[in-house]
Amino acid sequence: MTELAISQMQLADVDKVWQMEKQANRFPWTKGNFEDCLKGGYRSFLYSVADEMIGYSVVQSVLDEVHLLNICVKPTSQGNGFGRQILNHVIGLALEQSASIVVLEVRASNFRAQQLYLSTGFNEMSVRRGYYPAEQGREDGVLMGLELGMLSQLGQNLL
Ligand SMILES: CC(C)(COP(=O)(O)OP(=O)(O)OC[C@H]1O[C@@H](n2cnc3c(N)ncnc32)[C@H](O)[C@@H]1OP(=O)(O)O)[C@@H](O)C(=O)NCCC(=O)NCCS
Repeated sequence: MTELAISQMQLADVDKVWQMEKQANRFPWTKGNFEDCLKGGYRSFLYSVADEMIGYSVVQSVLDEVHLLNICVKPTSQGNGFGRQILNHVIGLALEQSASIVVLEVRASNFRAQQLYLSTGFNEMSVRRGYYPAEQGREDGVLMGLELGMLSQLGQNLL
């Protein structure tokens, strides 16, 4: 499997990140969303193969909870295991800081992402009605969580 090089996202990276965000999402974050996250100290990462950025993640830590706010793989690089590697990197960070849970919201229609999360051990925690804008009206968000207690006890190394 191709190893991803991981680096911290900087404000200077936001332009290229936003281009990828728009390519990969029907309702992309704004440039300002990424800038606010960086200025707010949220941990944000770039993932590259042979110096080419193929994805990114944005992570917020609140007490013992890690919230995965954004995860994205460039459309032409999807389906090659990179999304799983990025998710495992984020879970590894959460384990390092002894967090008890990783949580995220995902669109009810985003089966691909949900498959990734379910197959990694995430469970559906609740449904947030009308959480996301949609082509027609609003769309539900599914709140998913991965309890880390068991993983820590097993001493699994996900990195
Ligand atoms: C969701 C996303 C990050 C997954 O990244 P990826 O690199 O394509 O995913 P991977 O190749 O690592 O595949 C991981 C799992 O996703 C699922 N998956 C991947 N492609 C799929 C497809 N075409 N249909 C259904 N499930 C699929 C599978 O469960 C797969 O695991 P497997 O290969 O062991 O069966 C990527 O599709 C993406 O960036 N999408 C746009 C942004 C987005 O939706 N982000 C999530 C917001 S919550």
